[in-house]
Amino acid sequence: MKQLKTLHHADVKGKRVLVRVDFNVPLDAKGKVVDATRLEAAVPTIQHLLDEGARVILKSHLGRPDPDKPDPKLKMDKVAKEFSKLLGKPVKKVDECVGAEVVKAAKALKNGEIMMLENTRFYHEEKKNDLKFAKQLAELGEVFVNDAFGTAHRAHASTHGVAQYLPSHAGFLLQREIEVLTPLLEGLESPLVLIVGGAKIDTKIGILKSFIEKADIFLVGGGLANTFLKASGYDIGDSLCQDDKLEVAQEIMLEADKYDEKFYLPSDVTVASEISDTAQTLVLPVEDVAGDMKILDIGARTLDRYIAAIEKAEIVVWNGPLGLYEKTPFARGTREIAKAVARTKATTILGGGDTIDAIKQFGHDFIDFDHVSTGGGAMLEFLEGKVLPGIEVVME
Ligand code: 3PG
Repeated sequence: MKQLKTLHHADVKGKRVLVRVDFNVPLDAKGKVVDATRLEAAVPTIQHLLDEGARVILKSHLGRPDPDKPDPKLKMDKVAKEFSKLLGKPVKKVDECVGAEVVKAAKALKNGEIMMLENTRFYHEEKKNDLKFAKQLAELGEVFVNDAFGTAHRAHASTHGVAQYLPSHAGFLLQREIEVLTPLLEGLESPLVLIVGGAKIDTKIGILKSFIEKADIFLVGGGLANTFLKASGYDIGDSLCQDDKLEVAQEIMLEADKYDEKFYLPSDVTVASEISDTAQTLVLPVEDVAGDMKILDIGARTLDRYIAAIEKAEIVVWNGPLGLYEKTPFARGTREIAKAVARTKATTILGGGDTIDAIKQFGHDFIDFDHVSTGGGAMLEFLEGKVLPGIEVVME
């Protein structure tokens, strides 16, 4: 079996070490970091490198910007400041990822110093895994460390391509996620209840498809559920939906129909015509949604059904909030599901930026769950049994 090339075996003293982290953190409307879990999780690797006298160059994506019109709110400046506070030392931020200025800044680093590049997704080349771009990134360092478990399911230039040009190692966070999740993957017990919500419909719909055989029960919520409700023929009013995924949603439900009681969709929902902290809400059977109504949470009946399923599980895997938990009128579904997952005797694994933010917001500690992963989509794809491209590049 292939072994992970861990950081313990890397010679980094005095070397420029290019580290891919997943600093894709939740931000508020002003672009302020609202949950620093992913930053905190990267500290052991970065601190180790600095203590060993490496010159550290950090790179990450943040959000899903359009490289043609990069959103200034998605610049890495605030993240660099926040990380600098955590480390207790300056993190120099540069405004690009490649080019003469960046090379100069990287070469000017002294042992034990650290800098951060701009959002890698401000470049078209990143998601294309463009090798010319990857090579330019690689030229900044002498060693590559991948510690971005949350992005390990993406074969992008900064997670994958760059490893072609540099000796590459797994950071401590990546290593720990693999060590904790591998036995779970090998011993997934039945009934396995998979709770999936959130708004990243395109990523998650594919994951649901691959879990059809593995999971015994799917509890679907959040923006993701709307696409399934529409694909089942319901009017979802003015709700978030991904129309180009209706067909695949139908395929998944057809496949799930072959099993008894496998695929749960909301039977009632909380709706409002505006998204605000003071919005007037209604709880309706899904059949009654129409007009300008937006589905923003699961309803009470759905919640009871979902909690009953969680209580029967041997293992619960959760990624993605069940509603717009950031706004009080739509937080109940996610809050009550979090409570049910925290109190079940089942093995519980949850992950993803918003899910972590939600459980913290509702007052839970990580210790309430068996494993809290920094990865959302990455955690699910790993548990599917896939070899993730960001892990493959740091194997022997
Ligand atoms: C995540 O939050 O799941 C990772 O940072 C990956 O982000 P992406 O889904 O935009 O690739």
